[in-house]
Amino acid sequence: MQLTDYEKAMLNGDHGAAKARAMDLLVRYGQALGAERLVETRNVAGAFNASTPSVKAIVEQGFDAVYSELNLDSDEVVEIPRVVVNTTQLITGIDNDNWRVQGVEEPLIRMQRASEQFLGERGINPCATCTPYQVGVVPVMGEHCAWMESSAVIYCNSVLGARTNVEGKESTGAAALTGRIPYWGYHLTENRFGTHRVHVDIDVDDMKDWGLLGYYIGEVVQEDRPVLTGKLHHPSMVKLKHFGAAAASSGGVELYHIPGVTPEARTVEEAFGPHQPVGTIRYGKAERRDAWEKLQSATDRKVDFIMLGCPHNAIEQVELVAHLLRGRRIHPDVALWMHTPRAIKQIADRAGYVEIIEAAGGVVMSDTCPAISRRVPEGVRVIATDSAKQAHYLPAIAKVQGWFGSVQECVEAAISGEWQGGL
Ligand code: F3S
Repeated sequence: MQLTDYEKAMLNGDHGAAKARAMDLLVRYGQALGAERLVETRNVAGAFNASTPSVKAIVEQGFDAVYSELNLDSDEVVEIPRVVVNTTQLITGIDNDNWRVQGVEEPLIRMQRASEQFLGERGINPCATCTPYQVGVVPVMGEHCAWMESSAVIYCNSVLGARTNVEGKESTGAAALTGRIPYWGYHLTENRFGTHRVHVDIDVDDMKDWGLLGYYIGEVVQEDRPVLTGKLHHPSMVKLKHFGAAAASSGGVELYHIPGVTPEARTVEEAFGPHQPVGTIRYGKAERRDAWEKLQSATDRKVDFIMLGCPHNAIEQVELVAHLLRGRRIHPDVALWMHTPRAIKQIADRAGYVEIIEAAGGVVMSDTCPAISRRVPEGVRVIATDSAKQAHYLPAIAKVQGWFGSVQECVEAAISGEWQGGL
């Protein structure tokens, strides 16, 4: 792999042991990928936080040891310096405020808070969300990034037009300390053109339909790059967030184009660049029903847990839930958890939305989600969610049955305790 003089100096330890370990990792990783060089990145979003029981033993050796082992893959414990680029902590395992509701033991929350302190002293911003782009971490078009988390990666590539592969704890840990990441995959223009055309024959407008469309497309194209045309109503950030999260769940989509909407595809021709589509997929009523049926893993209509906010909710989504719950009472046998970034929760708090949701019996969570924390209310058997991604993962993770529907259907199920949703 070709390295610049500065990169060689980091590798040789001229800039300290931590950067040497980071460069060593990036070179090994880049060679395994077949990358010929590294590229400068100014934007890293990773998982640095210590919030799970499995890391307790390492924490006893100090947080330098946690970073060394988990974020640099280093047997040697090195002192971690300040990061050199804008670096964000993604979602964590524990809600710093509602940890008791999650059933988290006190030593674990103390560990997470101490971990955040350590990271903050080194310049890692504790945004604690899978949607950093909703709280001010917004790379510009063409910017090289090192991001983890599939729903964040597909948003970064497709909607922002920035460039990232799905990175891991180790590569983001090394990128934060060096400002470098292997130059391969979606960093290269030639890998960013569309592969399949998806023509949508039915109106796709609300969030539920964008989720269903994403879920269908992900399953069909798997890791390829769909280009969407047809009867799509101009989507909002929230709808594209749900669409991408769904496509990255049923498949491994990391980049898509919607001509006239996403920035790298002003036209269909631009979306495919020098290539011809390998095929055209039609999406109509039958395909929509197919996606919807695959997302219903429940048969029992008596629900006991409503999960909202996957990916983490935007302020307009929090407002909608507050509006739907205002003056009402959630069924005593049902728990409703809604998830949003901690920064958005502050706004929701000031606006009175949190109070309305709590008065109805719901909980507004931040920092985590059930799929990451692997924690749901005790005794839960049947969940309902407005997220195709959560409907895909949570039943298997939490051993529960799941219903997927609109946010309105989920809120009505919270009130009545009965799932009445449908197509
Ligand atoms: Fe975010 Fe958790 Fe969903 S990480 S995308 S809320 S599964």
